[in-house]
This record gives sequence, C-alpha cells and structure tokens, in this order.
Amino acid sequence: MHVGIIMDGNGRWATRRGLARLIGHKRGATQVKTIVKSCPGLGVDTLTLYAFSTENWKRAAHEVEGLMKLFRGYLSNNLVELHEKNVCVRFLGDPSPLAPDIRDLMENLRRMTRNNTGLQLNVAINYGGRDELVRATRSIATKVQAGEIEISDISEQTLSEHLDTKNQVDPDLIIRTAGEMRLSNFMTWQSAYSEFAFLEESWPEFTPEVFEDTLQNFHSRTRQFGAVIAK
Ligand code: FPP
Repeated sequence: MHVGIIMDGNGRWATRRGLARLIGHKRGATQVKTIVKSCPGLGVDTLTLYAFSTENWKRAAHEVEGLMKLFRGYLSNNLVELHEKNVCVRFLGDPSPLAPDIRDLMENLRRMTRNNTGLQLNVAINYGGRDELVRATRSIATKVQAGEIEISDISEQTLSEHLDTKNQVDPDLIIRTAGEMRLSNFMTWQSAYSEFAFLEESWPEFTPEVFEDTLQNFHSRTRQFGAVIAK
C-alpha cells in the first residue's frame, strides 16, 4: 500500500521541552530513518514524506538553512544504507531553487537506487500540489504545441503521467501528525480517493508502534466498508 505522511509538529515538540525548533527537526530526521526501516514489516510498499513545502521558504532564514543542512546530512549519510536495503528513492517537487550540492546529492541517490525493487520512497522537497499541477500543465501544453498530443486526447491519465508521481499508485492513506486537519498542498491530485488519519502525536513521537496502530485502524475502516457493501 501507498502511505503519504505530512510530518508536522517538530517545532512544537521542541518548544514544549524548552529546546530550539531545530532540535525538533533533528529528532524528526532520526524519526524518518526509523519509519523508513519499519515499512517493509508493515506492508507499506510506497512511502511519501512531505519534507519541505513550497511555502516553507517563508520561515526564518536560520530555520530554512538548518533544514537544508539536515537534508544534506540525510542524503549523504543514508545513501549506502538505503541502497543496501533495496529502497528506490524518488524526489517530488521542483528542485531548481535548491542549492546545487543538494540537487547533486538528490540526483546521485535517485540514480543509484532507481532499479531497486524494495520500498519506493518519495521525498517531497520544495513540493506543492498546485505547483506540481502547474508544471504538469506546462509540459502537456509544450507537447500540444509541438504536435505530440491532441487536445482531445488529454485525459486524467495524461495528467497523472505528467506528475512527479508518474507510474505510481495513488496514496491509500495520508497521515498528518500534530493535530492539524488540513492537506496543506500535499498530493492535491493524488489524494482524490485517499483515506485520512489525523493524529495528535507530533512527528518526533510517531514511532513504528503508532504507525502500526494507525495502519490497523485504516484496515479495520476499509474492511468495515466492505461489510456494508456485502449486506
Ligand atoms: C513540520 O514541523 C516539519 C517540517 C516543516 C520539516 C520536516 C523535516 C524533517 C522531519 C526533517 C528532515 C527530513 C528528512 C527527509 C531528512 P513544524 O516545524 O511545522 O512544526 P510546528 O508546526 O510544531 O512548528
């Protein structure tokens, strides 16, 4: 199954403990490693993590810089392990405003792991669902202009094939931690039929046990739905 996660609440988790917000993000990055490792045992074959949105640039410069440093660290320190664990990493979003060294690390990881057949891990960095749809529209329009696609042939499938998630199934379940109940520009197109789980736990508190409970809850909800149909 495909699970998307909006990893929220790092800042509040740290503030509650009298710590700097960046300490919360650091804990969040550790949690990313733990949760990625737990996926195969939990029946999750695609995991999409919302790491940085197109709106997150508006945060204080030192927080943005701190997050970029964490991405650098994660991308360079986990390449070998992700590859050894047969994880295939893909990035969602527009990489163009990111620092060149971060873009190189992303491209290395993508290229090195692209033929892996285990967990499909999507990391959304500078991602916005609306921005993704704008980019898809532009690339379809370019093909129309070049005479490669007829306007009347544009379908839902055409749109899907021009998104950053092309060739992937839509998320079955989207989880958001830390109490807010909104999508915040995450997988705008892909979430049309997704189930949602809004949790009180903040991202640093989202352990594999909480993940397992949330998945069990999802499975019992979907099973119940089957039973109603059968009546
Ligand atoms: C939301 O918490 C979290 C983020 C904007 C950043 C997510 C990043 C990580 C978990 C760390 C690194 C990720 C990877 C892939 C290595 P918030 O700051 O909005 O928390 P708040 O709502 O309590 O302020």
